[in-house]
Amino acid sequence: MSKSLNRREFLKRGSALLAAGSLPLSLVEVAFGKNSPENFTFAYVSDSHITHVKGKEFVRNWDRGLIRAIAETNLLDPRPDFVFYGGDIAQLGKREEIDHGLEILSALRGDVHYVMGEHDYYLDLGDYWRKQLGPDHYSFDHKGVHFVVLNSILTFDEWTHDKWPSAEERMHQMARLDNPQGSPFMVGQAQRDWLKKDLDKISKDTPLVVLSHSPLQKIYKGWNFWTDDAEQVQALLKPFNKVSVLYGHVHQIQYNQIGNISFNSAMATAWPWPYPASYKQAASYMPKLTVDMNRANPFFERDATGWQFINTHTGNVDVHYLLPDNTNRVVAYDRKAGHPVDSEYQAAEDRIPPQTHY
Ligand SMILES: [Fe+2]
Ligand SMILES: [Fe+2]
Repeated sequence: MSKSLNRREFLKRGSALLAAGSLPLSLVEVAFGKNSPENFTFAYVSDSHITHVKGKEFVRNWDRGLIRAIAETNLLDPRPDFVFYGGDIAQLGKREEIDHGLEILSALRGDVHYVMGEHDYYLDLGDYWRKQLGPDHYSFDHKGVHFVVLNSILTFDEWTHDKWPSAEERMHQMARLDNPQGSPFMVGQAQRDWLKKDLDKISKDTPLVVLSHSPLQKIYKGWNFWTDDAEQVQALLKPFNKVSVLYGHVHQIQYNQIGNISFNSAMATAWPWPYPASYKQAASYMPKLTVDMNRANPFFERDATGWQFINTHTGNVDVHYLLPDNTNRVVAYDRKAGHPVDSEYQAAEDRIPPQTHY
């Protein structure tokens, strides 16, 4: 399908957008029931991995990805109600990186809600991030939807506090992939207790949108596309009619449905990760529903990066992936099917090349 068709489809579905054709934006739409007074949109930018080199020097390419996403978010018309930032502002948790990232992010118009990523956390255990941005788990209500933000990248106390000779070493170890000395992410008992209390206050027909950095499901352990207590968190979400979990960390399009819970990932503004199936070092449990996107072309520095625009209507989310050097994608909740569906590539016969490659 041509870019212009994609764009027309996108404009039709996303109600609003933009003058330019292929923005790297992810817009999420939340949808309500019939009696819903209003639908709304928000934007979701994630995983910028701002990397300090020395002095005032930062890796230019990662800076540019974030700057571009913010410029495009600011052009949205109508304005999104707010923006989520999905975690991993920094690469190695340094103050310089968080400061530089937040300086770039300060150009965003409107409110931004932040999610903690492991790259923001494992140097000083989130102290500087919290000082700048506030608590790492919280909730709020917006136009009838209850939003919950969790810090899903915690791990065992022994690994965090007793294992490493320095904070830098701990950060480096958590940043490595396929690390036999690594440790799985988890939300943890204290936050699960908090979540239970938070959810006790709202009725079961309130649409819930839960933000985490890692997927609250188990996909691939070696890269922490995994949250160890995912099932326990899911159990707390289960009594609600409509639940959407939005997560960063994986730097690729993933979606899934487990019972009443829809899962949607966000793209990174920094770089793409390969799909686990391309790297068979361990069992991977990529949701069968997910149609892999075509992966990075090494000749385009922004290929397979982007951001999202999200529509919320009827209490579910429609995620519009805006991918500057790749084909835009829309993954929207399909009420008939009862799960998220890729608007173009879901059916096997529609998976035109190169969508079958990754
Ligand atoms: Fe990341
Ligand atoms: Fe991450």
